Amino acid sequence: APFVVAIDGPSGSGKSSVSRAVARALGLAYVDTGATYRAATWWCLAQGVPLTDTDAVAAAVRTLPLDLGVDPDAPTVVVDGTDVSADIRETAISAAVSAVATNLEARAELGRRHRALIDAEREPRSFSGGRGVVAEGRDITTVIAPDADVRVLLTASEEARLARRALDVHGTADAQAVEATRDQVLRRDADDSTVVQFHTAADGVVTVDSSHLDFEQTVEAVLAVVTA
Ligand code: CDP
Repeated sequence: APFVVAIDGPSGSGKSSVSRAVARALGLAYVDTGATYRAATWWCLAQGVPLTDTDAVAAAVRTLPLDLGVDPDAPTVVVDGTDVSADIRETAISAAVSAVATNLEARAELGRRHRALIDAEREPRSFSGGRGVVAEGRDITTVIAPDADVRVLLTASEEARLARRALDVHGTADAQAVEATRDQVLRRDADDSTVVQFHTAADGVVTVDSSHLDFEQTVEAVLAVVTA
């Protein structure tokens, strides 16, 4: 039967890579909602929208010409015909994305698009490994798809999260790289926490703590929840 797997978690929990691997293992589509917040931020900057202007940000996000590829083997993010998959991972975007994430009108607009992406895979037309979808972000288990068949909160200790993010961004998790990562990650989490709750599991959401698991073990742990 078609089904929906919702996975939320903070930065550095391994959410994106794990969700993608879970989608691949199950033959499902993969919806990276964080990528849509990043794409919206890229679009605002490209349009010269001042990120401090709440109304202008909301208006720009409503016109976001976004095409999100949901094949877990090749997830792509295209804005207005430009593939921005790499650009949206730049630190300039990570540093600015909270301006979109804390904008309630922008959240409502992106949320509508997330639900449409999920619904499209309930009745597959385009990507068709899909008899369902793995959707990941900060508010999927609670706001976007509280009715998902499986809901997981992927957590990890602050120490583990900072080390992973340092490795992603700097290619090393030595003390200097971790320090360079700390401020940005913790500030973004603090900003996000003002509008979405992703540090403790809502009722019915299963917590998977990846602090002491490697990548493969985390994927196995999430797959175990799905097949339980
Ligand atoms: O880089 P990281 O894995 O932490 O985050 P991401 O999944 O790429 O998401 C980037 C940003 O988008 C987050 O810091 C949130 O501000 C925002 N976001 C959100 O508010 N709600 C979601 N469902 C997904 C992402």
